[in-house]
Amino acid sequence: MANQLEISAINVINAGADEASVATDRPIKENELETLGVSPNFLAASGFEGKLGQTLLLPEQDPIVIAVGLGGQEITEPSIRNAAASLWRASKHLDSVTSLLPLTTATEVGAEVALQATVEGMLLASYRYDELKGSPEERSSLQQVTLVVPDGVDSAAALSRAEAVASAIALTRDLVNRPGGSLSAVQLADEAVKVAEQTGLEVEVWDRERLIVERCGGMLGVNAGSTEEPRMVRLTWRPKGESRGTIHFVGKGITFDTGGLNLKPFEGMKEMKIDMGGAAAVIGAMAAVAAHNPDVTIIGTCCCTDNQPSPTATKPGDVLNIRNGKTVEVLNTDAEGRLVLADGLSIAAEENPDLIVDLATLTGACLVALGSQYAGLMGNNEDAIARVEAAATKAGERLWHLPLPNEYRKQLDSDVADLQNIGSGRFGGTLVAGLFLQEFVDETPWVHLDIAGPVTTQEQEAEFPKGATGFGVRTLLEIVNNW
Ligand code: BES
Ligand code: MN
Ligand code: ZN
Repeated sequence: MANQLEISAINVINAGADEASVATDRPIKENELETLGVSPNFLAASGFEGKLGQTLLLPEQDPIVIAVGLGGQEITEPSIRNAAASLWRASKHLDSVTSLLPLTTATEVGAEVALQATVEGMLLASYRYDELKGSPEERSSLQQVTLVVPDGVDSAAALSRAEAVASAIALTRDLVNRPGGSLSAVQLADEAVKVAEQTGLEVEVWDRERLIVERCGGMLGVNAGSTEEPRMVRLTWRPKGESRGTIHFVGKGITFDTGGLNLKPFEGMKEMKIDMGGAAAVIGAMAAVAAHNPDVTIIGTCCCTDNQPSPTATKPGDVLNIRNGKTVEVLNTDAEGRLVLADGLSIAAEENPDLIVDLATLTGACLVALGSQYAGLMGNNEDAIARVEAAATKAGERLWHLPLPNEYRKQLDSDVADLQNIGSGRFGGTLVAGLFLQEFVDETPWVHLDIAGPVTTQEQEAEFPKGATGFGVRTLLEIVNNW
């Protein structure tokens, strides 16, 4: 079901082996073209400029030659993944392909990293969401991939890391792509339990009864209109030896966001199965954490429920009691993500971790501000912000630091409660949402990522097919790796 990655056999061979001579997807130097039987004029006349991800298949050559562009910029892990994804698409109608990509890029990023990035790029490009297709689509014919690396590379380790990251991202994509009707909060929690069973992570699941006992009024208030139970799920990685610290990830897990009584119009509602993308990224990252064996404690908390209108639903003007003791007047039931996160962040902050990172498809305003390719980043601590920014850069995930302006905090003052859940003004909705969340983390170093844009892509790009991207998994794993 999950992890729909197509390539079944990946071999690795060392440079110098005979097969290396058939692979030609490295940046082609003019003096090499003759040996391949390709004329530079022909490439140029065909419009091949070597741009990143550009491919040209030369079917007349024997064996067939595929030129893959690496671009004029610095070669990085993301650019190798991009080129490898293009190679997969260009070769998916062949039976087998041999590629020098990891060999060619080894000098720039290191041989193992180059190999890992190549494998990840090909696997992630081959991802498809087809679990609900009645008749299976045609699979690609490509089954055999041979990758050429320099001598002395630990290819087994690089391959298993690539496989772990790619299947974690595929899991996140599957969960985000799955319709709301096929993924309730209970089912999302079950997916997290399955991850725990497969990886040996600890897992704890709170049902409605337990959420009442634990005073999670934000979760219960958003769930009040639903016929499905809410779930708060917590996955924990504990290092074998002494722990050097604790990082707590918190994800928004709204399995479908109708808006509640403040019902969304059709245009806004039809995409809202993606509103658990934060939780899905946390689950995906936790699934891969064990493979990295970090010596820090990693906790992933997911706040799962749907948001439905009903006679029992929370009504505009109702006041909720959040876990940390603060009261919130719900003036708009469609600003529900911040209500479930308020409980999740309160729990995280109680335990004084070294860092809290939350991920949430929180505001449409973030799409207005940054477009669909950038996540918004906000935080209360310079060092924490710098760490997350560095991790995202390494991961190749685009985000932009936005302010949490004190000047706007008074927009959240309520006449009847400690806070209201929407700002009094019309503008700066992403920042106001960030300011709201800040009320629940005390002084704990905290970073908030609004992933409303990059959680999905409308068109295929690099190793991202149309639909869910798996955004956030890589950044979370980089934070763990660089702790
Ligand atoms: N899940 C939405 C935000 C969203 C919008 C995510 C578009 C992805 C794409 C969130 O719960 C929401 O409805 N936010 C409201 C907040 C408003 C009522 C203050 C919004 O953005 O309109
Ligand atoms: Mn909403
Ligand atoms: Zn939402």
